[in-house]
Amino acid sequence: MALKIMILGANGFIGSALTNAILRERDWEVYGIDLSDNKLGELPRERRFHFVEGDITINKEWVEYHVKKCDVVVPLVAIANPAQYVTHPLRVFELDFEANLAVVRHCVKYGKRLIFPSTSELYGMSPDAVLDEETSPLVYGPINKQRWIYAASKQLLDRVIYAYGVRDSLDYTLFRPFNFIGPNLDNIEEPKEGSSRVFTQFLSNVLYRRPFKLVDGGLQKRSFTYIDDAMECLLTIIENSGGRATRRIFNIGNPDNCVSIRELAERTIRIAQEFPELREAAKSTEIIDVSAGEYYGKYYQDIQVRVPAIEAARRDLGWQPHTDLDTAIRRTIDFYVKIGSFNPLNAAVSGL
Ligand code: UGA
Repeated sequence: MALKIMILGANGFIGSALTNAILRERDWEVYGIDLSDNKLGELPRERRFHFVEGDITINKEWVEYHVKKCDVVVPLVAIANPAQYVTHPLRVFELDFEANLAVVRHCVKYGKRLIFPSTSELYGMSPDAVLDEETSPLVYGPINKQRWIYAASKQLLDRVIYAYGVRDSLDYTLFRPFNFIGPNLDNIEEPKEGSSRVFTQFLSNVLYRRPFKLVDGGLQKRSFTYIDDAMECLLTIIENSGGRATRRIFNIGNPDNCVSIRELAERTIRIAQEFPELREAAKSTEIIDVSAGEYYGKYYQDIQVRVPAIEAARRDLGWQPHTDLDTAIRRTIDFYVKIGSFNPLNAAVSGL
């Protein structure tokens, strides 16, 4: 019997990529739910994809019924944008923690395998140069820095899931994405500053001919991971042959793509110029500095560097990332060009 996979948030960045990867590369059935279907393209027509539009905080019976019915549950509904951690911290707690806790408990009740998205943010301001799943300390700032409510919510869920594993033998895997980028990351046609994560924010700034803003000089570093590489890892985790991912935590990231945000900005401008549609706008894009306080407000605190240890995934899943940063940037821009996001009309429609 083909595996039945339930994906909550199937229209999100990771959810849509995962649905696509499963339908393309495996014979599994997917049961998905999300608020809308705009990132799914033709997927809802696929015979093995059963999709409903809905809200997991409202359609609770649908959720419980499908946890019961499926073999593996992947709850991907969450607010994952730092600008919102500081403006809507309670919404982050309610959705990322409370709504997901209910799903975790259904998995315990019905004995289902749970693949849960932890986050690279969990390490916070950890002093470790390379972040290890089992040994790195998790370090956050004071309560008045509301940014940490996301990491703290996710951390507590990791701990709850771990404890269910110890007490009830819950079959779970926690995976920690490190700055995945790729098609459908965020909507670049949304002009509002802070509505995106950094890479898509930069692409949006090219579209609207605005300068790139480097928070505190852009010296902070992230390890950008191409979404297709990440999906290969997730498929292996879901497959779980020989139980090798059961009750384990895996960083999914690309340490070779660790660059500063300034470097990301420079590369994005250089690579965007390869596309005739973007050449002029990219060439004239300015890079300016802003303070974190100006950009995010007083509740924000940044993470200076974040490099994943990926030995666990290499050794036990036989996985490693292979897409370099320039290729990841190029493929993502190519996607947005092809779907017409850089059409100047989009900027006009938004009145900019
Ligand atoms: C992200 C988000 O919390 C989640 O998407 C996720 O859990 C996790 O980390 C991940 O993807 O690994 P962060 O890397 O801080 O956090 O998110 P971005 O918004 O992409 O910001 C990256 C850096 O760019 C930050 O230092 C930020 O200050 C800077 N930035 C952002 C700019 O310099 N300019 C901008 O216009 C936007």
